[in-house]
Amino acid sequence: MTETLVERARRVIPGGVNSGQRRLEGLEDLVVASTSGASFTDTHGRTYTDYHAAFGPPVLGHNDPDVDRAASETSRKVDLMGVGITEIEIELAERIVQLIPSVQKVLLTVTGSEATFHALRVARAATGRRHIIKFQGCYHGWHDSVAMNVISAPERVGMKDPLSAGILPDVLDATIVLPFNDADAVERELEARPAGVAAIILEPIPHNVGALLPAPGYLQRLRELCTKHGTVLVFDEVITGFRHGLGGFQSVAGVTPDLTTFGKAVANGYPMGGIGGRADLMDLFSSTPGQPVLFAGTYNGHPATAAAALATISKMQREPVHEHIFRLGERARSGLRELYARLGLPVVVTGFGSVFVTYFMDGPAERYDDLLRNDKAMYVGYRRNLLEHGVFELPMNLKRSHVSYAHKEADIDALLEATETAVLKTRDELVARRRNST
Ligand SMILES: Cc1ncc(COP(=O)(O)O)c(C=O)c1O
Repeated sequence: MTETLVERARRVIPGGVNSGQRRLEGLEDLVVASTSGASFTDTHGRTYTDYHAAFGPPVLGHNDPDVDRAASETSRKVDLMGVGITEIEIELAERIVQLIPSVQKVLLTVTGSEATFHALRVARAATGRRHIIKFQGCYHGWHDSVAMNVISAPERVGMKDPLSAGILPDVLDATIVLPFNDADAVERELEARPAGVAAIILEPIPHNVGALLPAPGYLQRLRELCTKHGTVLVFDEVITGFRHGLGGFQSVAGVTPDLTTFGKAVANGYPMGGIGGRADLMDLFSSTPGQPVLFAGTYNGHPATAAAALATISKMQREPVHEHIFRLGERARSGLRELYARLGLPVVVTGFGSVFVTYFMDGPAERYDDLLRNDKAMYVGYRRNLLEHGVFELPMNLKRSHVSYAHKEADIDALLEATETAVLKTRDELVARRRNST
């Protein structure tokens, strides 16, 4: 018997996939064959409207022709050289500096994890301090200082909850985890530490647990506290950057951090991350000879990727991309609210711009603890049932959904219709299952 693709993958790739969370229950046989605009097709020929969007990058939709053309034209002209700079990197840096309020200078990486790694390292170097603060529910990548306390089990909230084995206890110890949307807790922590805190890092909207919107004045308070205590404020805009506005969510909130990390939507799916911010901090990186903070990466500023980023940003500037994705995001959120009200189901439908999420619980949804009330079986169950309708929202607890420029009004209408059927079916399944288990 011939081996299936999934079997071949399992034999040579641990778990059969190249990143944690890509192989989920109910999706064991998923092999993606092609992507296009707002959809993807698997090797069984099933096509889905894609709201997962690879966790966020393809803000214009998959295989955007302008972005692909820019990347391929550039790669025919100039390849990676690893010495000097290319014009396209300069142009991209100028554009980013122009657009993101906090960014006076910018360096490119390949991933968001590298960007947040460098942000914390430069903050420690600049302040001479050891500790950093992150928030329960925020994800900043896979490296040791931040790989903890994202989607924590209820009994793990309030303690260190590492995402991985193998993290040195010293590193875990140097990260303080606090609840999001509680500025008093941050103030208490900063006041209580005479040696100070090097950095506070946060997603301005913690999208790694759906969407916790910052309370009015919260980001401003963090800004004031960081200024008062000489702590470096880092907005991790890897999800929110470019997607929520060309200037990132900081331009929406009117709060300027010291450093900003970005990734995902900046290059519409081509691998790029970056860090930018105050010139005095950015000038500490060893891209300036003799400066003390190591910054290196063979693929940083890859010309083809830089061209993809420039084409992505240019299209967002040229065409009504944000207007479109915000309108469709709002159509999804308001349609979902109307739908659940009609069904008499208690939910919180929330999000921002192109991102939407439904928690199956009563409000509020302000901090991670609130999300412990979410009915996980409903959350995951209706998303599994949505697959039958050709709609793909990642069937995993607390994951958000995204609209791209390639989605159409009709896609949202189909999403709403499919959601109603999938939710009702899931509710019946759960009632039956819960009845049978009692
Ligand atoms: C807010 C945030 N920061 C950082 C990262 C890490 O980025 P990457 O996966 O490109 O390393 C992610 C990835 O999901 C993220 O959501």
